[in-house]
Amino acid sequence: MSIEVDGGRKVQGTLRIQGSKNAVLPMIAASVLCDGVTVIENCPDITDVYAMLDVIREIGGRAVYEKHRLEVDAGSVETGVIEEQKVREIRASVLLLGSLLARFERVAIDYPGGCSIGSRPIDFHIRAFEKMGAKIRSEDNILRCDTGGSLHGAEIELPFPSVGATENIILAAALAEGDTQIRNAAREPEIVELCRFLTAMGAKIEGAGSRNIGIRGVSALHGVHWRLGTDRISFLTCAMMVAGCGGEAFLEAEGEIPYMEKKILTRLGCRIGLERDGALIKQEGIPRPLSYVRTAPYPGFPTDGQSLLMAVLCKSSGVSLIEERIFENRFQMIKQLRRMGANIDYVSNRASITGVTRLHGARVVADDLRSGAGLLIAAAMADGRTELSGEHYIYRGYEDITGQMRALGLRARLSGDAGENK
Ligand code: UD1
Repeated sequence: MSIEVDGGRKVQGTLRIQGSKNAVLPMIAASVLCDGVTVIENCPDITDVYAMLDVIREIGGRAVYEKHRLEVDAGSVETGVIEEQKVREIRASVLLLGSLLARFERVAIDYPGGCSIGSRPIDFHIRAFEKMGAKIRSEDNILRCDTGGSLHGAEIELPFPSVGATENIILAAALAEGDTQIRNAAREPEIVELCRFLTAMGAKIEGAGSRNIGIRGVSALHGVHWRLGTDRISFLTCAMMVAGCGGEAFLEAEGEIPYMEKKILTRLGCRIGLERDGALIKQEGIPRPLSYVRTAPYPGFPTDGQSLLMAVLCKSSGVSLIEERIFENRFQMIKQLRRMGANIDYVSNRASITGVTRLHGARVVADDLRSGAGLLIAAAMADGRTELSGEHYIYRGYEDITGQMRALGLRARLSGDAGENK
């Protein structure tokens, strides 16, 4: 299978943006912290969720996912040992480490995987758990941890505001003995949502969304019923389709659009009309060039939006500069964009994009989730047909991406899926 896009059309449509991938994955890990049932509504239908649920089932939990409603009962989880291929396949399964350490004396997991955007070490996570009293050794690519009974609170200063490490420490600290302080914590909206979710489960957390988060360990958490917020990167993906192709779309969303995403869309020439249940995004001309954009932890411009932005800038009216400061391999996508006629030079983590008047369809390959989405944006902006393979990366984070594009008035379909918008 591959995805085929017939480009060159303007965006015109309305779309409800899916629930947040990066918020739901740590929430699934959080469900392991309690004996009760956790229900999450508006859960996105994506393969990263399935993979995480497979791991939960592997360790004895019960998980049912149907029609965007997820129910996890981790009361029957009987082991912290998951030497399981799935852990390699999905980076977020490392988040189970914090929850499992909070529940079991002995925990073993395969070194987690991820996609090809960079080396993605977990040294911050390991050092933090050691400070909380765990003994951790690595043996044949398996992490073996022993808490000697239970974890205790600690003062932890992160060398960098890592999203995953911040989440993992919060999860472990929620049931640890005593207080934990995280300094230089990540401030992403997904951290805030995770903390609200844990608070609803009975956790004691202060400072979520700031650099310093304090967690007071409690003896037990209970199940919760939760409605997940909008995926801000999916929102940005659709807004970037408008920015690149022109036209307009009403994107139904819950919650606010982060300031930096709004600012970048506006600098690209988009007009944004905010309404109670979403935003109307309009682009009349071609995208404007951006003299300099760098990725940074929240509230900076997200690294997950960088490939999307680069695709749009390929047809801007001038020269733009992007500096990638979080993941070293995000520029793999450049060689694919060049196949479509893009004019991009790069040295190390800085790319200079000179806008061209025309992109053309080509055969391209996605190397990771967000480069796949970026290539779909470029495909929609290009004249002619693009055939994209490596589409399984896209399914990790976007539900029914071709259906979403069609709702925006674009022509996209799975190859072999005859009749859809031909
Ligand atoms: C999460 C997001 C991902 C996003 C990223 C940055 C999820 C499921 N994934 O990934 O979509 O792109 O945040 O916003 O939420 N680092 C270390 N040692 C560590 C941990 C991280 O050196 O122990 C480095 C990484 O190599 C990277 C930087 O810190 O350069 C940021 O990584 P991190 O914030 O941890 O990203 P993830 O949590 O993996």
